[in-house]
Amino acid sequence: MSLLDTARADLRLGRRLATLRAGTLGLAALGDPVARLFQAPWKHDPYAVHERLRCERRLTWSRSGIWVASTYDDAHAVLRDRRFGVRLANGQQPFDVTGGPVHEGTEPDVLEMSLLGLDPPDHGRLRRLATPAFSARRIEAVRPQVEATATRLLDALDPARGPVDLVASYASPLPVAVISDLLAIPPQHARQFAAWGSTLGASLDGVTSVPHHKRLLRAQADLRALFERLVAERRADPGEDLLSRLATAADGPDAVTADEVVALAQLLLLAGFETTTNLVGNAVHALLQHPDQLAMATEDPSLAGRVITETLRWDPPVQLTARVAHEPVRVGPVDVRRDQVVLVLLGSTGRDEAVHGDADVFDLTRPEGRDTLAFSGGAHYCVGAPLARLEGEVALRLLLERWPGVRRAARPRPRGTTVIRGWRTLPVRA
Ligand code: HEM
Repeated sequence: MSLLDTARADLRLGRRLATLRAGTLGLAALGDPVARLFQAPWKHDPYAVHERLRCERRLTWSRSGIWVASTYDDAHAVLRDRRFGVRLANGQQPFDVTGGPVHEGTEPDVLEMSLLGLDPPDHGRLRRLATPAFSARRIEAVRPQVEATATRLLDALDPARGPVDLVASYASPLPVAVISDLLAIPPQHARQFAAWGSTLGASLDGVTSVPHHKRLLRAQADLRALFERLVAERRADPGEDLLSRLATAADGPDAVTADEVVALAQLLLLAGFETTTNLVGNAVHALLQHPDQLAMATEDPSLAGRVITETLRWDPPVQLTARVAHEPVRVGPVDVRRDQVVLVLLGSTGRDEAVHGDADVFDLTRPEGRDTLAFSGGAHYCVGAPLARLEGEVALRLLLERWPGVRRAARPRPRGTTVIRGWRTLPVRA
């Protein structure tokens, strides 16, 4: 593309984003729930928006032209119904990060190119490649490695020297190191991954400006170039690691292409740490907000698993996903037409009073309720759920054991994104 063409494309994108912003603002002011979830100040407290939606106890129509599922039962029904998928009848994704038809020069979104953006039969073929590596048994075997990494990170912190940002120094590097180990990615790339992950994770809310779009394209291209190189190396000289297994499976009976392997490896990397970082951050934040629960967990750090389960219910890191009706489907009293989109508010389902009593209360002694939808459900149920739980449990337990007096040192800064919810900084003292 010539410089002039690029400038024209940027101008068109800038105009489209401005129109989109104005539209969202207008709809949010009129009370539209979907617009509010993406617009300050409402987006900072999505649970208040969810509560109003759940009162209707049925799918709600948003003026942005999509349905919204906010109760546990509706979300569960949509996620598990095979008549819903992730692509429109024309094969396209329902949303583009730039809020319109694919922008000139845009590479397909990394997170949409693999599993998350595929329907059967391609989805099953690729998923069969990834799932064996994440079975509960395989993941339990990496526990010593996760504990060693968490211990090393905590050893490196010196609380006597002043406040520590728990996100930058613990919640973020831990999952990056764990997934990099699983894929046998050289450690020198770790810092770069955290930056790419946060750029790509934030893009799930849509692109906000032309420079943001450029940063996103650059991060996508750099990540893809790195994985193309690594996959080619592992195909030529495979080891025992997960990336080698994926790279060589391209030659096996499930016949995946090299491009699909690259996309899958990128997804595993990104899905593997942006989410887990925020699970750990949200869990620590929830404890700091509830001193009685913090005292209970500090007294008995073996409650760390409960802290994680309760955080997944009360303040999960992935707040929403979407499905497309591949044929007309009735959900409760509502007829969803073919190609209509349903936004599924995962974060709302854990606060549903029909499923959890006193749902707004963060309570580690709560009896086990129905399965969490924080990892979604049905065909796209999170491949990495056992790993995420293990990392979360280890991270919390070791932190509580090592820093029994952990407390807030300064105001934490929220990430401010809607799809992924979490903390950008979490300054604490030991
Ligand atoms: C707290 C941590 C995590 C949360 C809350 C989480 C949440 C989710 C959710 C909600 C989905 C499905 C989205 C949808 O239905 O459209 C998903 C899918 C996925 N997750 Fe996770 N995830 C976490 C950690 C991980 C980890 C550690 C890995 C792997 C290393 C991982 C790998 C994946 C993959 C590959 C998919 C796509 C599955 C498919 O489309 O078939 N996730 N995750």
